[in-house]
Amino acid sequence: MLFSSLVKSLTLALLATKSVVSAIPIASQDGDNDSSSLTKRASAGSVFGYASLNGGTTGGASGKSVTATSLKELESYCAQSGALTIYVSGSISSSGSSGYTVKVASDKSIIGKSGASLTNVGLSLDGVSNVIIQNLSISKVIGTDAVRVQKSKNIWLDHLDVSSDQNHGKDYYDGLIDITHACDYVTVSYVHFHDHEKTSLVGHSDTNGSEDTGHLTVTFAYNFWENLNSRGPSLRFGTSHIYNNYYDNMGDCINVRKGAKALVENNVFAGSSSKGLYSVDGTGKAQASGNDFGKASDSIGSTTLSMKYKYSLKNAGDVASYVKSNAGAIL
Ligand SMILES: *[C@@H]1O[C@H](CO)[C@@H](O)[C@H](O)[C@H]1NC(C)=O
Ligand SMILES: *[C@@H]1O[C@H](CO)[C@@H](O)[C@H](O)[C@H]1NC(C)=O
Ligand SMILES: *[C@@H]1O[C@H](CO)[C@@H](O)[C@H](O)[C@H]1NC(C)=O
Repeated sequence: MLFSSLVKSLTLALLATKSVVSAIPIASQDGDNDSSSLTKRASAGSVFGYASLNGGTTGGASGKSVTATSLKELESYCAQSGALTIYVSGSISSSGSSGYTVKVASDKSIIGKSGASLTNVGLSLDGVSNVIIQNLSISKVIGTDAVRVQKSKNIWLDHLDVSSDQNHGKDYYDGLIDITHACDYVTVSYVHFHDHEKTSLVGHSDTNGSEDTGHLTVTFAYNFWENLNSRGPSLRFGTSHIYNNYYDNMGDCINVRKGAKALVENNVFAGSSSKGLYSVDGTGKAQASGNDFGKASDSIGSTTLSMKYKYSLKNAGDVASYVKSNAGAIL
């Protein structure tokens, strides 16, 4: 008994150390294209949650690195086959009346350098595997998603700033991060979602159960959801782990529907956040514990759910300050 709890706390301490260390190597990769040192630094140990299963998610770590300073360069690097780390430098934008979509091939890391941003340019991951997107601001992508992930596996979206505005009605922009069509092993961490209507959709349609049931496995951890209308996230059919998120002024937060299940732990709902955890059609269930719902409601039916990976939880009382100072494009 004593021994096993000692092992457990050592494991948790190790995990905590790893996640702190992982933020440092990214910063030191700047401008480096030596593949052997990149492999050493971007160890698979830095990814956590669902994206750490199924062999893990390393992105372009085993390949060279390049820097994209224009939309054309970004598009051509993202389309290359093989492992590649693509640093994004400066402001890249499109003036189109609808957002420009850059397709991302498998085995890529896309990492924003200081001040990097995409405006009205979204990233699409369709039928790919092993992609990491980190430290990037993506805003105001008209009519499509900032990041769209479909039919893909082992995807890690980390330390992003994704936003638009709430002045154009709910369908002018589409989602900020939408994960659909039977994706698996996805982690969304340290993302600052803000100033948007339809934030994050997991499972696009009520009628896609034959494709999606048993898939759509997504971890949402340490994200800052601020000034948003809905979908924080909205889940259909899949299985999601939602822990240590901070919600500030979000209308409809976690919506679990079409038989989806969620493990919802130690999240905090602040400001005017209203529907904390619910199922719009009554068929979604959650195992919820340690959450601070504030003024938000918790009206969902319960289930039991556990994850196949190790993780450590922060206390709800520490979530606001931790998430506010660590989420976003700040690596
Ligand atoms: C890698 O770095 C070398 C030396 O700085 C440079 O000549 C080469 O073009 C770089 N390769 C890529 C793919 O960025
Ligand atoms: C990550 O992005 C932030 C915000 O643009 C920037 O301050 C920081 O320097 C970037 N990190 C690296 C390693 O370039
Ligand atoms: C659901 O997924 C299947 C398989 O990809 C696809 O053929 C079908 O059109 C999808 N249905 C909807 C409503 O999107």
